Amino acid sequence: MTDAANYMLGYSSDEQRRLIAQSALFEPLTRDAFARAGLGAGMRVLDLGCGVGDVSMLAARMVQPNGVVLGIDRASDSLDLARRRAREAGLDNVAFAAAKIEDFESDQTFDAIVGRFILLYLAEAATTLRRLSSHLAPGGVVAFHERRVVHGLVVRDDVVPARLVGLGGDLLVGGERVVLVA
Ligand SMILES: C[S@@+](CC[C@H](N)C(=O)[O-])C[C@H]1O[C@@H](n2cnc3c(N)ncnc32)[C@H](O)[C@@H]1O
Repeated sequence: MTDAANYMLGYSSDEQRRLIAQSALFEPLTRDAFARAGLGAGMRVLDLGCGVGDVSMLAARMVQPNGVVLGIDRASDSLDLARRRAREAGLDNVAFAAAKIEDFESDQTFDAIVGRFILLYLAEAATTLRRLSSHLAPGGVVAFHERRVVHGLVVRDDVVPARLVGLGGDLLVGGERVVLVA
């Protein structure tokens, strides 16, 4: 089974819609975290696990006018949708590329490496981030919006998807039933 086949949230159109709905809920928090980390005009940004493009597009707006963003994900269908959405949003400073984060190589240097809800899916997140930070310019920013949930509401399997959209939560984390806090 491939890594992508093991990815617990899958790549259905429902999941793509869920990511977009989730992003609408979380965008103000993500923007605030990135701004406080120092993301700003003119920066070159790498977005890890960009999915259907929401964080990349947010970063692209934050680094205008001269900054650029590269979003990477291993799911080419998600990247196709991300490209379409960025084009429809009139953003010409964001590009997307298919890559497994752990294997990503580039001769580019970035001023910031960012992501949202991605580190929890990496088996060796610290090792991967340490390796990727070699692509950072001196003084570069590393900023992630992640979730740390320990206990919460466990709902019946048949009502989980509806709750997920409403709460913006991920279904399973680390192989255990998530924690959805209302
Ligand atoms: C929960 S989604 C978050 C998407 C986006 N960051 C957002 O906040 O809307 C996680 C994304 O990471 C991608 N992903 C997970 N593990 C990955 C890996 N090892 N390499 C590349 N992409 C990965 C998945 O394909 C998925 O699109």
